[in-house]
Amino acid sequence: MCGIVGYVGNENARNIIIDGLKRLEYRGYDSAGIALADPEQGMIVRKKKGRIANLEEYISGENLFSTIGIGHTRWATHGAPSDENAHPHVSADGKIALVHNGIIENYVELKKELMEKHGIVFSSETDTEVLTKLIGVLYEGDLEDAVFKALDRVRGAFAIGVISQDEPGRLVAARKDSPLIVGLGRDGNFIASDIPAILKYCRQIYLIENNEVVVLTENNVQIFDAQRRPVRRDVFNVTWDADAAEKEGYDHFMLKEIHEQPEGIRNTVERRMDDHGEIVLDGINLTRETIEYFNKVYIVACGTAYHAGLIGKYAIEKFAHISVEVDIASEFRYRDPFVDDRTLFIAISQSGETLDTLAALREAKKKGARVLSVVNVVGSSVARESDDVFYTWAGPEIAVASTKAYTTQLVCMYLIGMYMGRKKGLLDDETYQTLMNELLVIPDKLETLLQKERVVQDLARRFYRSNNVFFIGRGPDSYVSYEGSLKLKEISYINSFAIAAGELKHGTIALIEKDTLVVALATQDSLFEKMLSNIKEVKSRDATVLAIAKEGNTTVEAEADYVFYIPQCPDELTPLLSVVPLQQFAYYIAKMRGCDIDKPKNLAKSVTVE
Ligand code: F6R
Repeated sequence: MCGIVGYVGNENARNIIIDGLKRLEYRGYDSAGIALADPEQGMIVRKKKGRIANLEEYISGENLFSTIGIGHTRWATHGAPSDENAHPHVSADGKIALVHNGIIENYVELKKELMEKHGIVFSSETDTEVLTKLIGVLYEGDLEDAVFKALDRVRGAFAIGVISQDEPGRLVAARKDSPLIVGLGRDGNFIASDIPAILKYCRQIYLIENNEVVVLTENNVQIFDAQRRPVRRDVFNVTWDADAAEKEGYDHFMLKEIHEQPEGIRNTVERRMDDHGEIVLDGINLTRETIEYFNKVYIVACGTAYHAGLIGKYAIEKFAHISVEVDIASEFRYRDPFVDDRTLFIAISQSGETLDTLAALREAKKKGARVLSVVNVVGSSVARESDDVFYTWAGPEIAVASTKAYTTQLVCMYLIGMYMGRKKGLLDDETYQTLMNELLVIPDKLETLLQKERVVQDLARRFYRSNNVFFIGRGPDSYVSYEGSLKLKEISYINSFAIAAGELKHGTIALIEKDTLVVALATQDSLFEKMLSNIKEVKSRDATVLAIAKEGNTTVEAEADYVFYIPQCPDELTPLLSVVPLQQFAYYIAKMRGCDIDKPKNLAKSVTVE
């Protein structure tokens, strides 16, 4: 889980690469490096532990110039973050440099062979250096050939960019299971882990497939398959704006993205309705017969996307009466789940590159399931490997903590559930119309809700010194409480824990003591009384309770210490509203604690390792 970028053209590669790396920093940020192939000075490699800013400062006094180069921002897997382990790595003679995102699984045996047979000395603990040295050993004047030969020997996942000082006009790149795109510019060509890294320079993109090798020069890009046969690829034209990936005046991407939720939801819903108000699933062919043929739905995802999956289960079971299992991707793939051709497998992923989700998807496909993915990043691996894709139209999400991707994932899951229910004749016109009308006005309600940011800020000021926070809820509220808790812990580093409110008394209530903060979601009319009892339970252990309730349900004020009200809406859809104050609460608490909100420690935006 790292970011790579590369350039060959007639501009100074140094500036393009540093700029691209800054936009990729969300993919990993424990060290960064750059390699420039200079015909006179040879291969110039500079790398530094820490953020891109460290690297930039490190090279600021140097007048580096080259028209070809590669860069890397790292999230450590093999070897601690350090200058030595940072990429690029170089071949034994220092003439070839390589950047890599992914993991070379058989690096130990290759390393042994390189040491014993070729006397190669290694300077880092990384798997990447092994691949670099291997290419160096196989190099006989043709970088493309050496890369092909080396890739034949490696197992694992990779997106790589390689340059050689002896071929200063050629950049070779390759991918397997890690993202890689090629950008076609006016003044040269680019490689990158994702589109925003190079959008400033080009809008025409090639999406590189697994097991492909790309050879780039200033004026030409050739793609080859694993058998070295040329591949023709359609150009993908990027229509969205580079500004969408900038902060636009907000202090952090996370806050900007929280505020983009009304628009994201609007885009995700409105594009999915035909003239008669019926849901259209982007041409996905799910007829009544196909839906009735499914005897099970599996929803598989990780982290926040998994939390969206829990609401997906609720929606599909409620509206379409199909049994749904939700699983964490890293668990699903290793437990030999019962999946066959009567299974609809739904993968949810913002990035579309999460390795565990991708592996689970492949497993389900192998067993014959129909794979439908709910993905934000167009052209990502999950999207490409699915039978059908239902995109969330959240736009690029840069902050590590997911916000707008989550709410648009929820919308997609509601739409899928309602669509299936409708096809099966289970959702009558009146219920359907009420839900659909509500989905259409949710963005407006959210805009009103976002204006109460001050209230959340005041609550954050009251609680930002907390050491332990509990989140409780019932029904859909319990799923939202998981998400609220994850948001808080990942960006503020406060120990927080979420649990279904009814389960509290079976053990966890032992942890509730004087002044423990309990955030109680009480938005479900049908479960309101039960939640009031749960609030009483923790209050009688002297907890401080912050309740989230629907406007008008003021009886909660008699039990809770603080209440934050969300607009009225049907029980089924409250997660779209109730999660937002929890996102803001986490944001302001993290800010008051001085945390690095967009790049929390130990995390990365896209988890492309197991
Ligand atoms: C938390 C967060 C993660 C991701 C998870 C899956 O805020 O963002 O928990 O949800 O890593 O990522 P995607 O959705 O890209 O598969």
